[in-house]
Amino acid sequence: MRRQALAASITAANAALYQLTRPMIYAGSAQAAHENVLRVLKRVDGNAWLQRSFRALQAVSFPPEATSRVSVGGVDLPHPLILAAGFVKGRGFNSEAEALAAVRAGENIIPGWRTMPALVGAVEFGSFTRHPRIGNAGTVIWRHTERRTTQNRVGLKNPGAVAAASFLYQHLPDLPSLFGVNIAPTPAVDDPAQIKTDVIDSIRAFIARGVRPAWFTLNLSCPNTEDDPGGHQTTDHARDLCGTVVDFLREYVAGSIPLWVKVSPCLSAAQYHGLMAAFAETGVQAVIATNTLGAPSPDDPTINAGIGGADLHAHALQAVRYLHETRTAHRHPVDIIACGGVQDPISYHAFKSAGADAAQYWSALVFKGPLAAARILQEDITP
Ligand SMILES: Cc1cc2nc3c(=O)[nH]c(=O)nc-3n(C[C@H](O)[C@H](O)[C@H](O)COP(=O)(O)O)c2cc1C
Repeated sequence: MRRQALAASITAANAALYQLTRPMIYAGSAQAAHENVLRVLKRVDGNAWLQRSFRALQAVSFPPEATSRVSVGGVDLPHPLILAAGFVKGRGFNSEAEALAAVRAGENIIPGWRTMPALVGAVEFGSFTRHPRIGNAGTVIWRHTERRTTQNRVGLKNPGAVAAASFLYQHLPDLPSLFGVNIAPTPAVDDPAQIKTDVIDSIRAFIARGVRPAWFTLNLSCPNTEDDPGGHQTTDHARDLCGTVVDFLREYVAGSIPLWVKVSPCLSAAQYHGLMAAFAETGVQAVIATNTLGAPSPDDPTINAGIGGADLHAHALQAVRYLHETRTAHRHPVDIIACGGVQDPISYHAFKSAGADAAQYWSALVFKGPLAAARILQEDITP
């Protein structure tokens, strides 16, 4: 009971701190704030004393593990909220040679790799593609504060799987005990054989270096690129690709690392039903619903940028409902991880009532601060 009171006061302190720093963060653009945060993380990751402090803060901020531990998608989690892909994903590069040179030079190419797991627990790193991507130019992140909504067209900026894996390999002894790795197919590649090769090579890049995440997520839903994610999300394509990846993981690591898949919002009921059947058939252990929703960007309505946060919530909720209804009807052994506007106990519980087994969040960091997940769980037990 005392521990709960302590945790509640720490998350209240976090809330107060966030209210104080908010004007500073919100004075600049969303993009400037994001870049500032990444600059700080880049340095803070290397400070062992701070890392210990963050871990201590996590230990007292979240509800006791005994009450919140869950097993989802073949992974034991200390609590049911996971930081979604796209926050700890690394910077972009023009080529693998350039990215590997940065790794060799000792640059922290994945800011937050150490700090975010220390602070919030489970984190999904990535998305990583087989080759590095520099991402889209110009303004690529926006926030709509009054609507607690974000928008982005980062365009899958990342250092590429080989450099990301090499970087994490350099830090093997200090890797967090619990993290996932999100892999995206190379945008604009249509050849199914090439897509499979790229995805398998990406996964192999990590495992071959002894970097073993608790789960891999296959991101079938990348908006904001030159790709049409819908094309990756047909039942046949999902069955083919997921089957190949699960078989690879069975052979390469005896199935000890589960595969999750991330899907888009606003697919048809039939498409979600077909995808769920394909996941069950191939041995995918969890589906993350959903990625962001394409909508005209604030600066140029002819270009799309993915909506996250409150404006995504109803769409993600509908996706979870469709996935859950077919899972129940067919007893598919696939867990559902909700993602889309989890920012308070109400949105979190809406997902739970719709059938979600756990949830991921991203925009909550913007609107509730770094300990958003702890605050959501604390507000849940101390209304
Ligand atoms: C700036 C930004 C970058 C993102 N990058 C990725 C990514 O690389 N891979 C991915 O699967 N999702 C990515 N996402 C989507 C989030 O993981 C999440 O699905 C989405 O934001 C919805 O969650 P939210 O409503 O809590 O923000 C990104 C989101 C944002 C805001």
